[in-house]
Amino acid sequence: MGQERDPQRAERAIRHRPRRLRTSPVMRAMVAETAVAPRQLVLPVFVAEGLAEPRPISSMPGVVQHSMDTLRKAAVAAAQAGLAGVMLFGVPAHKDAQGSGAVDPDGILTRAITAVRSEVGDDLLVMTDVCLDEFTDHGHCGVLTPSGAVDNDATVEIYAQMAVLHAESGAHVVAPSGMMDGQVGAIREALDAAGWLDTTVLAYAAKFASAFYSPFREAVGSSLQGDRKTYQQDGGNVREALREVALDLAEGADIVMVKPALAYLDVIRAVAEAVDVPVAAYNISGEYAMVEAAAAHGWINREPAIAETLTSIRRAGADIVLTYWAQEWAERYHQGTHR
Ligand code: PBG
Repeated sequence: MGQERDPQRAERAIRHRPRRLRTSPVMRAMVAETAVAPRQLVLPVFVAEGLAEPRPISSMPGVVQHSMDTLRKAAVAAAQAGLAGVMLFGVPAHKDAQGSGAVDPDGILTRAITAVRSEVGDDLLVMTDVCLDEFTDHGHCGVLTPSGAVDNDATVEIYAQMAVLHAESGAHVVAPSGMMDGQVGAIREALDAAGWLDTTVLAYAAKFASAFYSPFREAVGSSLQGDRKTYQQDGGNVREALREVALDLAEGADIVMVKPALAYLDVIRAVAEAVDVPVAAYNISGEYAMVEAAAAHGWINREPAIAETLTSIRRAGADIVLTYWAQEWAERYHQGTHR
């Protein structure tokens, strides 16, 4: 029991005792400043072409590449758990230099969007990654010039086509993640021209070149050689992040995202203070893998570490958190065992 009478100390003149507000779980819950509710969470999901059974991703224990069938089930479960949405990533059976599977109306991502939307209707937001790295054999987020540089403007044209295809297939939200200049403006213009006025653009606005994406490369079967430093940002640059955010807003972004989350909590805070739109943050694959790996060794206590991670991202200023723990968190939230 936290609150009990101590007759010996009735004379003691410590007036301020912050510990009073920590005396019981109910008291602590009442004064909690930061909540992590299922409606603020988005579950990233992978679907691979031609899979009969889901395939585990070894560097992300508990996360799989779905078959179309298990993807449908995961989306229904996400809707039932009250999540905000799923972020869909498609892994094609064949990759090529142009990433042509990305604009194939019968491609894996397009089919996945249609399948998920038909299951969930408007009960769950269907969000899509608009990027080429899942589809290119070289693993870059865009097409290449003859000399091997990532061709910004040609890539942006493809993103615009992808976004329209995603909207036609049933996406509520498209999320350009390639860090090409002008990608948000081109996508907004293409969506509007095709009549998709309400299709929402969640811009990966400040996306940093990060070592923490490594497990994602396994998740989408990417064979990237080299790095993404000519398009993703340098980790030390917060002013540049604010510029990227401002440009995306000027181009019509509805929601801006910071990614990764944990090594960039100060950037989330700076963006949250600078903008008047919702801010998202992506708790990425390597952040997930770190906690899972340490917990599997018994070096940290898994559930409290997850709670602390998600709380820190919300506390930094993110309204929306993309996290591989979204489904588990929501289920524990409803049981009241999430913290
Ligand atoms: C690009 C994309 C990436 C992630 C989300 N969208 C990979 C990258 O930019 O290198 C990473 C997500 C994660 O690591 O969990 N399609």
